[in-house]
Amino acid sequence: MKRTSSVTVAAILLVASLSGCTSIRQQTAEAVAVLNPTQGSIAQGTIYFSRATDGVRLDGEITGLKPGQHGFHIHEKGDCSAPDAASAGGHYNPTGMPHAAPYDVQRHIGDLGNIRADASGIAKFSQVDHAARLDGPNSIIGHAVIIHADPDDYKTQPAGNAGKRVACGVIVKQ
Ligand code: CU
Ligand code: ZN
Repeated sequence: MKRTSSVTVAAILLVASLSGCTSIRQQTAEAVAVLNPTQGSIAQGTIYFSRATDGVRLDGEITGLKPGQHGFHIHEKGDCSAPDAASAGGHYNPTGMPHAAPYDVQRHIGDLGNIRADASGIAKFSQVDHAARLDGPNSIIGHAVIIHADPDDYKTQPAGNAGKRVACGVIVKQ
């Protein structure tokens, strides 16, 4: 009896220490997007958005991707209802800039770049985007996050030639 309970306590402490960092960030995150697969896709996941010193921190995990790079954007309309997610419109671009890379000064606010899926098709990331905001004229709240089938080349207008939309989710305050 005594041994069982101390083993249980040790297991709980281990789980708590392993997941501590992520769960604290999830709890304190200001917004979240739950991404669902488009028709013919199995990609899905969750992204948390929190305030950073210079922009917005994104902590996410997407599964069901083909290994490699995938275009990662915020699109104009918070509407993932179409089977191919075309309802989300083009890239979120309140500042009227060309499509570019996340590190470029002149870019769509929605140009988050690429995420990389490992051999198991899982993309796990934690990064700060310098252009996105959680309030004000460049706020991403209410817009849609989209993951694409192919890499964003950071050049082709207006969307980086990233191919089909494989997952879509609306950014909502939590
Ligand atoms: Cu996109
Ligand atoms: Zn763009």
